[in-house]
Amino acid sequence: MFPKEVYVARRKALAQDIEKGVILLPGNSEAPANYPDNCYNFRQDSTFLYFFGISEPDFAAIIDAETGEEILFGDDVSIDDIIWMGPQISVAERAAGVGVAKSRKFSELSAYIENALKAGRQVHFLPQYRYKNMIMLSEMLGIPVVQLKEKASVELIQAVVSQRIVKDKWEIEEIDKACNIGYAMHYAVLKLLRLGMVEQELVGAMEGIALSQGAGVSFATILSQHGETLHNHIHNGIITAGKLLTIDAGAEGNSNYCSDFTRTLPCSGKFTTKQREIYDIVEECNNYALSASKPGVSYFDVHVAVYRIMAERLKALGIMKGDVEEAVAAGAPALFMPHGLGHNMGLDVHDMENFGEDYVGYGNAAKRSSIFGYSSLRMGRVLVPGNVITDEPGIYFIPALIEKWKKENICSEFINFDKLESYYDFGGIRLEDDVLITETGSRLLGSKRLPIRAEDVEAAMAK
Ligand code: GLY
Ligand code: MN
Repeated sequence: MFPKEVYVARRKALAQDIEKGVILLPGNSEAPANYPDNCYNFRQDSTFLYFFGISEPDFAAIIDAETGEEILFGDDVSIDDIIWMGPQISVAERAAGVGVAKSRKFSELSAYIENALKAGRQVHFLPQYRYKNMIMLSEMLGIPVVQLKEKASVELIQAVVSQRIVKDKWEIEEIDKACNIGYAMHYAVLKLLRLGMVEQELVGAMEGIALSQGAGVSFATILSQHGETLHNHIHNGIITAGKLLTIDAGAEGNSNYCSDFTRTLPCSGKFTTKQREIYDIVEECNNYALSASKPGVSYFDVHVAVYRIMAERLKALGIMKGDVEEAVAAGAPALFMPHGLGHNMGLDVHDMENFGEDYVGYGNAAKRSSIFGYSSLRMGRVLVPGNVITDEPGIYFIPALIEKWKKENICSEFINFDKLESYYDFGGIRLEDDVLITETGSRLLGSKRLPIRAEDVEAAMAK
């Protein structure tokens, strides 16, 4: 937890940003996995964590935007709870620990909200993603569950995004730590990878590091020799000579800040010439995006520039053809990179996407493109100091997508479909780093960069 003044200042800024009414922020409860007492690891709601710092279930809070009153709602534990959970500090002490003067029983929240509504006050709430909170808000506010998303407060969403999208020094320190855990996870694979292993063994080693150094993984680990499937969570493949292994994984530190890295390794320890040709393009795109990311630059434009590099290089290999600028404008490189260059990262690995991707990645200034490929870009904003983003270009050969474009004649003036037939068993390459936008440019997060140059990857695997 950060010093209490950090939370006090964040809440004060939030209340100032909201003109009228009451802000309602529910925390999360335990989520049962297969029967009520057997729950997933508890994960607090990130916005609740950001403003109240309390990582325990069954709390909610209100902030009165007009008077500045703040109340933490939660229940002190009973002797039965103490038997199973051990002694717990009181709700009043938790509230005081983050500079909140008042606390009440959880059951008093609904009467508080009812009174606010009766007085004709607006109750601002965020879009919800946990069903228990959806039901609670629906009952308290008298809004059908299906309408909660559209009735959520845009004013509150925008106010929270404008704060959380710029990371302060406390947060950057925590993200650096999460990146160091992510580094250890990926570095372990560089050392452990052997032909004949099952992919699952590597996943277990990585996730063990995440758990032994922090709260666990920041999302379900992607580790596969079928990297052309972008989010491949099937880990039953046997590590096979000549294949590429795409590993996209990150850690959540004990303070719940995240990291997210991707590397693609040659299973045999050395890239083939054909693999190397594609790998070097992706590496160039990653390095370009890092060098181009600075305050005032739109990340959408960086994505476009990355597509341009890909189109030029793939044309030189005979995979693409025609005019590069026209190919980029038509979105032809999306055949090879049908995802965005990156996303915001912080307390969530895809930061704040529970509010809706466009509020976070675009705001009011830019509109999301509807062209395939460009439309997948989650972060298209103009960068400002304090933004934390991922830089994750990739080139994939997805047989079903190539076949579809070929059949439907999509971008056929830019794609050499005949040449592509020899790439159907290639897989995919993605290289992802986490980047902080600074006052003057950008820097990689974490104290060390995972090997990325092909020679460095091979050397690290050989050691
Ligand atoms: N690393 C997974 C993702 O960004 O979607
Ligand atoms: Mn990512």
